[in-house]
Amino acid sequence: MAREIAVVGVVGLGTMGAGIAEVVARSGIRVVAVDLDAAGVERGRGHVEHSTARAVAKGKLDDDARQALLDLISYGTDLADLADADLVIEAVPESLELKARVFAELDRVVAPDVVLASNTSALSITQISVHTGRPGKVVGLHFFNPAPVQRLTEVVRTVVTEPDVVADVVAFTRRLGKEPVVIGDRAGFIANALLFGYLNHAVAMYESRYATREDLDAAMRFGCGYPMGPLALLDLIGLDTAYEILETMYAQSRNRLHAPTPILKQMITAGLLGRKSGRGFYTYDGPDSPTVV
Ligand code: 3HC
Repeated sequence: MAREIAVVGVVGLGTMGAGIAEVVARSGIRVVAVDLDAAGVERGRGHVEHSTARAVAKGKLDDDARQALLDLISYGTDLADLADADLVIEAVPESLELKARVFAELDRVVAPDVVLASNTSALSITQISVHTGRPGKVVGLHFFNPAPVQRLTEVVRTVVTEPDVVADVVAFTRRLGKEPVVIGDRAGFIANALLFGYLNHAVAMYESRYATREDLDAAMRFGCGYPMGPLALLDLIGLDTAYEILETMYAQSRNRLHAPTPILKQMITAGLLGRKSGRGFYTYDGPDSPTVV
């Protein structure tokens, strides 16, 4: 019988991990949020506090409900804190080596029937799973940015993921108010595989000065009804993250649509990572306030 999910562990408290912790707590489920260093914990805590304060300011949450949500999340820097978790969602940076280490340690810490999920955008769930003694209980659980807003989750099964595990994770994400889709283990899954060819093409048009950033973004917003244009979206995703996703997909597919446009690497080297560094294709005052400069 499936394990009752009362406590969820989240590992890695960057933008996605903090957003996932918030989403889970919003559903009234306890969260143990772990980052591998203290600064990461504080950044994650700040992210959740900021996001929930904004919901209060917009009248979507009252102060008591916000406090109750914050009280559901405990923070730490030790994976051993996850000993009581009923499900763990990993969201550390996109390095196979790092994820392999985290999964091997999680495998030692949590009970043998606990499902271990990775929020990786493009890495192989199969390759991550073989670093545990329970590959049948490892899945991808991919959220979208901003996690509290975007409704999709991609549940990624490998050739050995147990069918019950997939069904339980699908049911869990529905409990979070998300719309899950189930997909096999291929780089980019569904959404990124389709999205990043388009984003990369927009960067190539910008690089060749075929169109301005404003016109590229306006075309897709006002012509196609996208909530953001491609260059503004890349700034939200983070140029470094986007580059890693493209590189991983290109290495697997050799589809030239996914060969990262050179200017992306140049911008990353120059420190232009998008919103998180204050400048990408556009310049920002803060994470929420784009200033089109
Ligand atoms: N955290 C929490 N909530 C946020 C948020 C954040 N970072 N950013 C916006 N929101 C909330 C706002 O509070 C608001 O909530 P409300 O409707 O309850 O009042 C709602 O989202 C809309 O926000 P705004 O009114 O401030 O702004 P917009 O209407 O312009 O929406 C947006 C902002 C939600 C970011 C929208 O532009 C959008 O959906 N953009 C596309 C995002 C997208 O494509 N994401 C997927 C990227 S790919 C990915 O994540 C995969 C990964 O592997 C890289």
